[in-house]
Amino acid sequence: MEFYEVVNKRRSIRQFEDREIPREVLERILDAGLKAPSSNHQRRWELLTLTDKTLILDLAKFIRPYPCRITEPKTPQQEMFKIAYPRQRSMIEEAACVILPYFKQKYTFDNDKNGYGLMDYGATWALVENMLLAATAEGIGSVVHIPVKKEPEQIKAFMNVPDGYYLPALVVLGYPAKDALLPSQVEATVKNKVRWNKW
Ligand SMILES: Cc1cc2nc3c(=O)[nH]c(=O)nc-3n(C[C@H](O)[C@H](O)[C@H](O)COP(=O)(O)O)c2cc1C
Repeated sequence: MEFYEVVNKRRSIRQFEDREIPREVLERILDAGLKAPSSNHQRRWELLTLTDKTLILDLAKFIRPYPCRITEPKTPQQEMFKIAYPRQRSMIEEAACVILPYFKQKYTFDNDKNGYGLMDYGATWALVENMLLAATAEGIGSVVHIPVKKEPEQIKAFMNVPDGYYLPALVVLGYPAKDALLPSQVEATVKNKVRWNKW
């Protein structure tokens, strides 16, 4: 797929077919992530990649669907809440692969030493976006889940992750279900979001 087609095609998919992703496809997606830029060329990433369905189902038990009272969405955000909130657990249960992109947290986020804590966090998001795009190019649906409340500690204990590692997001992958629900997009274009040469 051509690069701009990939960029335009990527959407957050939260309903998946019950179908495995071949190992070589996953390796290409992971490899694309590992090509991302990183601050000070640190690449402090460790990607814990789950393909074992029993393990994925056990992991999903830690993720709580968010409550959502919206029945008649009036904005694209509300459409997204209505689709996404109840599916935070089921999208993981249905996934063929969940990637946990940990990074070694050398500096805390509030460390004022050149914002280093945020740099490693930012570098991990560059890696995540590369993987989301690579997944799209491979015909694989993807979405991220941000671990909240007790989830980071529970996942860390469940997967025996050593101390000192931080998980910014779970990357959830699978072949998209044919009827996967998509909210409409918030418009962000060069016309409405870009200022040239002055504010
Ligand atoms: C920083 C960040 C956090 C997000 N957190 C979640 C999340 O926890 N659960 C979820 O289902 N989607 C999450 N998303 C996906 C957004 O909801 C999605 O990107 C947005 O609704 C636009 O839809 P699109 O990705 O299809 O363009 C997150 C995206 C970003 C960039």
